[in-house]
Amino acid sequence: MSETAYLNGEFLPIEQAKISVLDRGFIFGDGVYEVIPVYSRRPFRLAEHLARLQASLDAIRLVNPHPAPKWTELVGKIVAGNPWEDQAVYLQITRGAAKRDHVFPKGVKPTVFMMASELVPPSAELVKSGAKAIVLPDRRWLRCDIKSVSLLGNCMLRTLAADQDCAEAILVREGMLTEASASNVFIVKDGTVLTPPKSHLILPGITYDVVLEILRENSIAHEVRPVTEAELRSAEEVWVTSSSREVLAITTLDGKRVGSGQPGPVGERVHALYHQYKAKVMRAPIHA
Ligand code: PDD
Repeated sequence: MSETAYLNGEFLPIEQAKISVLDRGFIFGDGVYEVIPVYSRRPFRLAEHLARLQASLDAIRLVNPHPAPKWTELVGKIVAGNPWEDQAVYLQITRGAAKRDHVFPKGVKPTVFMMASELVPPSAELVKSGAKAIVLPDRRWLRCDIKSVSLLGNCMLRTLAADQDCAEAILVREGMLTEASASNVFIVKDGTVLTPPKSHLILPGITYDVVLEILRENSIAHEVRPVTEAELRSAEEVWVTSSSREVLAITTLDGKRVGSGQPGPVGERVHALYHQYKAKVMRAPIHA
């Protein structure tokens, strides 16, 4: 089966999908996106992803081109048109093509684009060993709650991490933990899980919410509160969470061991509970 993309009402092979060079997504990075994980061809937490998409659109004053049932249908068609059982569905909406002018133009048709790729979770070896990360100053803009396609800051940070053979860059702003270049961050201190609260400084991760639900439902000690850089650096455990990384232990931070240097007991438990949860919801009946 070949790979199918979607552009402005049409399903087509990705090589045939073309946009105008005047598209404001291309010229200004004027657009927002979502990445929706799909397991056994069933979207995970689709309603939550669509709600976050709506929040991003509202924040940049872009009218949602489709109601939720239409998005559900489009996501279903992209999933059906691609060969993998587990997929990451990417969708992007830009403000469309217009004469270059910083002011948001009125009456322009947005560009709607979707594609899928194979969703490959972290390997068993990586889950067992944990990943390496570095700590960097968070030099991004101050609206990190918007899932904007303007990801140059995130790309620069992730590349600095890759330069040092690290999986992630964990970010601090004015002495406080924010998130990582493409994931949220949890730490364990004195046996309690800590993560920063949602604010304009972090993306409200869908996986972050799932992890907090798991912590609550299993009475695992946790607090959502500001976390200092010192707490991050002296944590017993550090994990990153995202749709693609799931719950991944960071066992080396700036070349130093985190805790014992192995994934810790709290993270291992949450990782197992996350997989149980995923298996459970994927077996449940589908609600659109
Ligand atoms: N990234 N923070 C940032 C900056 C992110 O880019 C992401 C996700 C997350 C985690 O969000 P979620 O749990 O909803 O995946 C946090 C996606 C996967 C990406 O850009 O590819």
